[in-house]
Formats: sequence, structure tokens, C-alpha cells
Amino acid sequence: MVVPAVSADEIAAMSVAARQASAFAYCPYSNFRVGASVLTGDREIIGGCNVENASYGLSICAERNAIFQAVATGHREIKALVLYTPTAKPVTPCGACRQVLAEFGADVAVVCICDGGESIATSLKELLAMPFGAA
Ligand code: THU
Repeated sequence: MVVPAVSADEIAAMSVAARQASAFAYCPYSNFRVGASVLTGDREIIGGCNVENASYGLSICAERNAIFQAVATGHREIKALVLYTPTAKPVTPCGACRQVLAEFGADVAVVCICDGGESIATSLKELLAMPFGAA
């Protein structure tokens, strides 16, 4: 699986990072362990997991956690995101995470992997045609 501007080796390494990150998920309410990784403009791979809260609405997705971790460690450009879910079929990032991703990359490669054999290789442009941006 090769995504434009991102090598197969990078996607493979990101997939390992996303799966590893899911082991750290804090999800006592949903029991749905999610892991994500992002590839920064300087080709660093940074992972994140979902972190839930007793006040459910305060929970954060794995994708946003990975993105915020990248920004918090000095990165401002994201080239790719891998999402891992412990499901039979791949699932795609939620709308909130798509909008947050749009802040740090106009043309982000998105790969969704799971425990089954299938994966989805797509792009933020396809997932979020018209992101919000203050005029
Ligand atoms: N979740 C993610 O981390 N990423 C997604 O793309 C969808 C949902 C998390 C949020 C919550 O902790 C759990 O999965 C159930 O919705």
C-alpha cells in the first residue's frame, strides 16, 4: 500500500506506532482501544491514543491526541495519519478529527487499519472536502 508523498516504509512504521499507541488507550467507558500516528513534515512519527473521561464529552480521540502531541513537541506540518481500530473492518476518523487535521496539512494521506485484512488508503481532501477556515 503506497500513498503519494509517503513511502510504504513510512506507512509500515506508522502502522506499528499506531498499534502500539492503542495499548495505552484509557477507555474504561467504551472499551474501544484506538491508536493513531502522524508523520510530521520532518518525517517524525508520533503516536496517540484515545483518553476518556467520566464526563463522556471530555474524551478525546486517538487522532487528535497524536496531532496535539506532534504540535506540543514542535511540529506544525502533518503529512500522513494512520488510524488503528481493533475492528474486523477499517473505520475512518471522526469529523472533529478531520477538521483538526486540516489545521496542520492541506493534503494529508490517511490510512485506516484494523485487525482484519482490509485497510483504507485515502486523503484528508477526500474525507473533508470543505474544511472550515476563518476568512
Ligand atoms: N475514537 C477515536 O479515538 N477515534 C475515532 O476516530 C473514533 C472514536 C474513540 C473515542 C472514544 O474514546 C471511543 O473511541 C468510542 O467512541
